[in-house]
Amino acid sequence: MTAPKVTQPSDFASPDDVVERLRGERYLADPTIGLTVYLAQRLEKPLLVEGPAGAGKTELARSVARATGARLIRLQCYEGLDESKALYEWNYKKQLLRIQAGEHQEWAGLEEDIFSESFLLARPLLSAIQANEPVVLLVDEIDRLEVEAEALMLEVLADFQVTIPELGTIVATRRPRVFLTSNNTRDLSEALKRRCLFLPIDYPTVERERDILLTRVDGLSVTLADQVSRIVRSIRDLDLKKPPSISEAIDWARTLVLLGTESVGPADAPRTLHVLLKYEADIERARRRLLGLPDDVDGRPAHVDSFRNPEGGER
Ligand SMILES: Nc1ncnc2c1ncn2[C@@H]1O[C@H](COP(=O)(O)OP(=O)(O)O)[C@@H](O)[C@H]1O
Ligand SMILES: [Mg+2]
Repeated sequence: MTAPKVTQPSDFASPDDVVERLRGERYLADPTIGLTVYLAQRLEKPLLVEGPAGAGKTELARSVARATGARLIRLQCYEGLDESKALYEWNYKKQLLRIQAGEHQEWAGLEEDIFSESFLLARPLLSAIQANEPVVLLVDEIDRLEVEAEALMLEVLADFQVTIPELGTIVATRRPRVFLTSNNTRDLSEALKRRCLFLPIDYPTVERERDILLTRVDGLSVTLADQVSRIVRSIRDLDLKKPPSISEAIDWARTLVLLGTESVGPADAPRTLHVLLKYEADIERARRRLLGLPDDVDGRPAHVDSFRNPEGGER
């Protein structure tokens, strides 16, 4: 551990510095993550982080905010998200009150007044642009937006500015660090990708996952962490509806510690598999694999199904 710095925590000095300071926030980044986060800072480009659910995308942005002493501004994307929730909205109530109060005032003056910044409700993208202090802007799960709605982001991502027709263009005085995450449920537009630096994040190696478990789970022994990460890896290799993510591996390790487990192997793992997996079929498949049983209930390997009945299922 380095001695606490007297200066304000701020920019990263190098890719290694990224890895080191993220470790201080209990986030274990591999060298590629360290390098790409560093490059995004130097190039002042938004970082598009893509990968399966629970692989550490959101947590990366959070940890970077903490490591740099920045405020985190988060925009959670969903279908139907619009300008008024992403960028800004006029404060209608306040505008009405102002109009009532200025009943005898000339309209031109009034209009100029009610369309000024103090009648604006800033939503995450505008807040990030307006902030005077260091900010990490997290646009989370952008693949949940319809592709047309991505356009809402483009001006912010490309020029760090927001244009408001009645008011003009608000330019960031200090560029926020921007993270976009995607679970890869659909392809993002070329326009969006072009503006970002791309960081694919996959499940970690067995060794790194073991270390993540050790940083995140109190009272976990190295032996158990090692066993958990190996079993999790072998389960991920199965053809599952929802492979276990890092968060589920953490939950499982916590469960085992709570139960006072000292060691876990293929024979006793099935007892707690429901903490790791979220579908009954997945649990059954993993259980059979761990116990060395054939994949199918009838004693046939699962893939034989497709030969037996190309339509799937038995009628
Ligand atoms: N590299 C990592 N180092 C430490 N913990 C991690 C790491 N990656 C993921 N985690 C853990 O997994 C959890 C889920 O990660 P999260 O960022 O929410 O996933 P997602 O990719 O779906 O956004 C985090 O809360 C954290 O506890
Ligand atoms: Mg997330």
